[in-house]
Amino acid sequence: KNVLFVASECVPFIKTGGLADVVGSLPKSLNKDEFDVRVILPKYMCISSEWKDKMEYVDSFYMDLCWRRQYVGILKIVLDGITFYFVDNEYYFSGPKPYGDIRYDLEKFAFFSRAVLSALPVIGFRPDIIHCHDWQSGLVPVYLNDSFRAGDFYQGIKTIMTIHNLKFQGVWDVKTIKDIAGLSDYYFTDDKLKDYDNGNYLKGGIVYSDFVTTVSDTYAEEIKTPFYGEGLDGLMRARSNSLFGIVNGIDYTLFDPKTDKLIENNYDIDNFRKEKIKNKRALQKRLGLKQDDKVMLIGIVSRLTDQKGFDLIDCVMDEICQDAVQIVVLGTGDEKYENMFRHFDWKYQDSVSANIYYSEELSHQIYAACDAFLMPSLFEPCGLSQLMSLKYGTLPIVRETGGLKDTVIPYNEYEGTGTGFSFANYNAHEMMATIRFAERIFYDKKREWNKMVDRAMACDYSWDNSAKKYAELYHRLLGF
Ligand code: ADP
Ligand code: GLC
Repeated sequence: KNVLFVASECVPFIKTGGLADVVGSLPKSLNKDEFDVRVILPKYMCISSEWKDKMEYVDSFYMDLCWRRQYVGILKIVLDGITFYFVDNEYYFSGPKPYGDIRYDLEKFAFFSRAVLSALPVIGFRPDIIHCHDWQSGLVPVYLNDSFRAGDFYQGIKTIMTIHNLKFQGVWDVKTIKDIAGLSDYYFTDDKLKDYDNGNYLKGGIVYSDFVTTVSDTYAEEIKTPFYGEGLDGLMRARSNSLFGIVNGIDYTLFDPKTDKLIENNYDIDNFRKEKIKNKRALQKRLGLKQDDKVMLIGIVSRLTDQKGFDLIDCVMDEICQDAVQIVVLGTGDEKYENMFRHFDWKYQDSVSANIYYSEELSHQIYAACDAFLMPSLFEPCGLSQLMSLKYGTLPIVRETGGLKDTVIPYNEYEGTGTGFSFANYNAHEMMATIRFAERIFYDKKREWNKMVDRAMACDYSWDNSAKKYAELYHRLLGF
């Protein structure tokens, strides 16, 4: 059976967040004898030339959309047995980053979605299932229902919409969306793309897909409630019979302290007690923190946005910094959080290091070097950083929401169980009490701490289990 992933980012070509990790690793984890999974992405100019030079031209054609005749070039790369197609159009994809101004992005991804469907007969790949990811591909199921239904080629193609983050929906006023997407009035009623006075791509994707999935069981439940539903909780409840939560995995060929080439010193579950510390020393040195083997080092690697709980950190950072801890941050995002961390870096030079940029290399070094990893998210569809931390024996401190709740088992002092620390309410002092609980175990009960590291490193969040769940869903959808 043929499956086509449609997405706006994918490792190793282009990444802004966890979506790229998932789209880059799930396809190769599905059984190749059963599924020919291919991926289609925009050919952004900002993809590194290392990859652009490897792209082979497949074909090209013209397509009418948005009052223009548009060039659509198709290129491809085969990597680890998976074919990746790239849609080329310099008008849309030449920006310095994959995303920019939202009004412009809406037009860009309408173009992309239409080009994907138009390209299929040209490249000679007829998917049995089109698996869409996030709002950028939300119009694919809508278009498939609309004009494309007419052609024999498209008859019977099934669709799945995976929601990686319900916060981002692709929304603008109805008239603009209607024009941009080239859709008729028929689509702009409350049961379709209309959302109050707006047109909404993701809503369209959800309404017109056969199945809807999201990236953890808890988030699948949460989004049926107003607090997490981002205005679509009613729709999520209405679709609850075809809404499934499947937790993400990570790619252990890229994230394994035993083989990771980006870290100072490799280690595994048998020798972390002696070997992991060398990464801490190297990181302290690299970032100009005080050299201290014994101090508890807490890491943060994240987009710096409201989603990730940084306002909680802002509230109690001064108090935390009175404790014997060091904090290292790697991230970019909202200016207020970038400046907040720069400020604490300036104020606590020996113990706080703020690195406001994107670096794959430094991210791995942080996962490897730290003792604990802080992720107090307001909401978290799945979260991959805590899975990476577990694998590197860096104990996660998380808020119990979404995928964080499903993947981190809270430490129970009396039973000697757990793989990290967690708190329930979105409250700064609750977070701080949990950090202090972790400090107490770290400093006073090192044996217990190390046993927890053992359990964390033994967790299996490879794609094996979750890929099987996607395969089951594909089977159900295709009836075989
Ligand atoms: P989200 O997708 O919401 O950003 P996830 O936890 O699912 O959160 O995935 C985030 C991914 O992006 C992880 O692989 C993390 O290591 C990576 N990441 C985030 N910020 C940076 C950064 N500044 N530099 C390097 N990697 C980063
Ligand atoms: C989104 C979510 C994150 C999830 C990722 C991959 O960016 O914010 O929680 O892990 O997608 O599914």
